[in-house]
Amino acid sequence: MKTKIYRHILCGLFAVGTLNYASAQTKADQATDAQISAIIKKLTLEEKITMLHASGVFTAGGCKRLDIPVVKTDDGPLGVREEVKEGWGSANLTTDSATFFPNGSALAATWNPELAYRYGHDMGEEARARNITVMLAPAFNICRNPLCGRTYEYYSEDPFLNAKLAVQSVKGIQSQHVAACVKHFAVNNQEINRGKVSVDVSERALREIYLPAFKASIIEGKAWTIMSAYNKLRGVYCSENDYLLNKVLKGEWGFKGIVISDWGGVHSTVAAAKNGLDLEMGSNPPYNTYYFADKLLDSVKAGKVSIKLIDEKVRRILWVQLHTNMSKNQPEGKMSTPEHGKTAYAIASESIVLLKNEKNLLPLNTSTIKSIAVIGDNATRTFHLGGFGAGVKARYEITALAGLQNRLGKTIDIKFAQGYSGKYSAVGEVNSPSHGPDSALIAQAVATAKSTDLAILFIGGNRDYESESRDRKDLSLPFGEQTLVDAVTAANPNTIVVVVGGAPYDIGQIKKNNSTIVWSWYNGSENGNALADVLTGKINPSGKMPFTFPAELKDSPSEALNAYPGENLKVDYKEGILVGYRWFDTKKIEPMYCFGYGLSYTDYKYSDLFTNKKSYKATDVITATLKVKNTGKYAGKETVQLYVSKTGSAVERAEKELKAFKKVNITVGETASVTLNIPVKDLAYYDTKTSKWVVEPGKYKILAGKSSKDIEENATITVE
Ligand code: BGC
Repeated sequence: MKTKIYRHILCGLFAVGTLNYASAQTKADQATDAQISAIIKKLTLEEKITMLHASGVFTAGGCKRLDIPVVKTDDGPLGVREEVKEGWGSANLTTDSATFFPNGSALAATWNPELAYRYGHDMGEEARARNITVMLAPAFNICRNPLCGRTYEYYSEDPFLNAKLAVQSVKGIQSQHVAACVKHFAVNNQEINRGKVSVDVSERALREIYLPAFKASIIEGKAWTIMSAYNKLRGVYCSENDYLLNKVLKGEWGFKGIVISDWGGVHSTVAAAKNGLDLEMGSNPPYNTYYFADKLLDSVKAGKVSIKLIDEKVRRILWVQLHTNMSKNQPEGKMSTPEHGKTAYAIASESIVLLKNEKNLLPLNTSTIKSIAVIGDNATRTFHLGGFGAGVKARYEITALAGLQNRLGKTIDIKFAQGYSGKYSAVGEVNSPSHGPDSALIAQAVATAKSTDLAILFIGGNRDYESESRDRKDLSLPFGEQTLVDAVTAANPNTIVVVVGGAPYDIGQIKKNNSTIVWSWYNGSENGNALADVLTGKINPSGKMPFTFPAELKDSPSEALNAYPGENLKVDYKEGILVGYRWFDTKKIEPMYCFGYGLSYTDYKYSDLFTNKKSYKATDVITATLKVKNTGKYAGKETVQLYVSKTGSAVERAEKELKAFKKVNITVGETASVTLNIPVKDLAYYDTKTSKWVVEPGKYKILAGKSSKDIEENATITVE
């Protein structure tokens, strides 16, 4: 009979009491290490190599002889992707209908790390139900250029917001003994030429902007796996980048888990093996032809790759498996439960951003409105699938129209007109211009809008238009939507525009001409219900933009400096640390909507900001407290944002940087006392001369704002 020794070890590993935790922890670690060594001793070289490469679209490794299970991965981040067959076709299971969670930028717009944890937890539970070892999520590359096709999957342009959400997503997923795979490491900030382009970025920008969320998810979140990006950094593919993988990730950050390649993103055997890659994934058989299959075996036999290095990779894989599919602590898992639906609803309802409400059309006055025209393809479109890349086979998805019918259908006459066709198929790497206005659909929409008290227009992008593997060509609204908006607004002045998208669009004309604008996202299974609840005021909108909307594309840093998408497969991040609002603020460029922007049905008054001290040492924590009063008529949630500005710095600085935020619930008339902490070490910049984080002494301004531009209160402190 085979002995499953790892199970015994794990009993010891997790059964440690609270007494003397540190030494117990060390003992447990030692026991795990010994256990792994014992398994490695039993594996043949061929069996070890089998553990280092794909064996199917989403599977790798395993060793039947020793009872080591296969590593089964699956995509997020929108939820657990359906089971696919070789060739990516659906496996047609009846057991893999999943919860569709709001897209990454929607989650980021909630500014709510607790929701990020719930998202991870629930997705982890669904992954467990599907016996998945590694969830390929979360994805959080920085939004460098708004055209990037995966902006909707990612979180933000800001490294601090990014890190706070990434850490909680990772913790949530891993609470279910499913490994998170944080991706894509690193600087995968465009889809054009993603498989070949080389990124040149200053060390300071790399450290201050592009790596912080990865670092935090490894060190704080303790992510068990990470995915190397397709692109190159400084001329070297990320999957064989000694600097990124060996020096920074495994060296400086002490990463003990698995470096997994992006699918088909490996280009060498010896270099990738030596420079830090552990597991090669891809989707096309025959798998023995992979760089980490027969070729790796030959390289070991030829003495080009040491057995010690192979063992180290196997050790990492077993270490992750001991926490996941070889752990006896794995919970059962659950698919698409009502609880998961509640999480999807909570995220969606906190993500929606109120951009303009000049005529107070919102919240809808449901006691006087008798009829509503719901117009636009996005009112009836679902977003769980579309474009290239990962989606989910959603158990259900409530469209905007269905949500409004659910909530208002009994008392209000709701009429629908499609308005435009959102059918889209892309050509090549860049989204080509999409087809224009459809006069017949517009005429129908105008007639419908004229015959009702109010019109709600649902426009924006969709999952075919915003997609992995290509970038948008420009920020313009697709499908002739502007013409539709103008025609409907002229027909009915009580028109509310709801723009659905995962990335910035040029909505300048709408901002100028329309009174009422709401921003929504690819908002998960509960999309329509959450939207209807925000429109009717059951939910007071609290979403804030996780990225800057430029007034014009050319204002964005990488566009202004002609540093996107690069030339001759090289892209130079010339803007350095001035990404997103850091650029707009520092260069005094007025955006269309700034980072952190979002209105509410109520008003908040900020006052009395003070810090616990005036002068701080490098090891201190700055505690800032302020009052926020709800002066309006609706209870609501406000995200207080704390930015820091260094006055008279000796080095280049952004005008301000987000260093803390807190979302608080405030009832009508209530004054909340909000306390936020900033460790002084977080004020550091990365000094490239000494390769160290340096906190400059001197004065700093602490700025409390409703957004990056609406700064309501400030205080000055000194660092000694
Ligand atoms: C994407 C990854 C994804 C992988 C597997 C790649 O094209 O870049 O994010 O996890 O495919 O589907």
